Amino acid sequence: MKKRLDEIVEEAITALNTFEDHHDLMNLKSRFVGKKSELMGFMKKLGSLPKEERPIFGQTINNAKNKILDKFNEIEEKLKNLEYEKKIASNKVDFSMPGRPPLRGNLHPLTQIWREIEDIFISMGFEVAEGFDIEDEFHNFDALNTPKDHPSRNLADTFYIGNDRLLRTQTSTVQIRVMENFEPPIKIISPGRCYRNDKPDASHSPAFHQVEALVVGEGVTFADLRDTLNGFVVKMFGSKIRSRFRPHFFPFTEPSAEIDIACVNCGGKGCNVCKHSGWLEMGGAGMVDPNVLDNLGIDSEKYTGFAFGLGIDRITMLKYNIPDIRLLFENDLRFLKQFK
Ligand code: DAH
Repeated sequence: MKKRLDEIVEEAITALNTFEDHHDLMNLKSRFVGKKSELMGFMKKLGSLPKEERPIFGQTINNAKNKILDKFNEIEEKLKNLEYEKKIASNKVDFSMPGRPPLRGNLHPLTQIWREIEDIFISMGFEVAEGFDIEDEFHNFDALNTPKDHPSRNLADTFYIGNDRLLRTQTSTVQIRVMENFEPPIKIISPGRCYRNDKPDASHSPAFHQVEALVVGEGVTFADLRDTLNGFVVKMFGSKIRSRFRPHFFPFTEPSAEIDIACVNCGGKGCNVCKHSGWLEMGGAGMVDPNVLDNLGIDSEKYTGFAFGLGIDRITMLKYNIPDIRLLFENDLRFLKQFK
């Protein structure tokens, strides 16, 4: 039996030495040490031997198997090196080639515009204030002079999260938080996320972004509001883009206006983007209602203020010609990569 084992080892080694390719090698392996090999057949016979002989016999088989496996590994290693050298010889690996650069990310287009907006207002002397996404009814509605029966308080418009907590529907909440905590003169902007119970479509998203501005001081007028907004529009969209105010109503400003800018796509001639009106809506503005000031302990006889709120998503879409607001929230890399 020992003799037969030695023969098998010899046969195997001879065969391995004449291997042809990898496929061949695997066949040889299974032929000599695979489940159905003669060698493993000996293993199966172990059970029929007297107990004392089993260990020695088992070890002899294992030694034979290991010899074959060692040879197999040696040959396999050689084969690998050989293939590698062949590859190099045929120039498939070119060590002089520059490496692949790692993927580099970029800021989300909204973040880019958000920062640009901040930079513009900071250059005009504003400070950046932060508010909270989760607010109470006082800051989102009451302090903003919004009556209890105002439709915007409806469940259909506002996400309530119970116990006098809601997701703010506007960044105007930050006006209140700032006036609660600071004395005039006040000159802040506050960019941030807002939430409304809107069905998503090309121009609506349940989460969106606004930038709020608030200026309170002695002798602040509507002309200052116009001038500030014009200054911003020119810096953001270029000196050719005009802006206009349309009379409007907001509970917390008096008088109030909606802000339009000349269509950045057609320059005001009329096109699909502006629905042929020549104008695009950007947000709301007005003089802070004296009620709001007085309720927060700011003397409305001495101080006046203006405020406005603009849509950051809207500005981003106009700047980059993005047709659908939902693109800004889906985080599809194919879309985001375009803003490097
Ligand atoms: N908060 C308003 C909205 O979401 C926009 C707005 C209008 C903000 C007038 C203001 C303002 O600060 O003065 O529709």
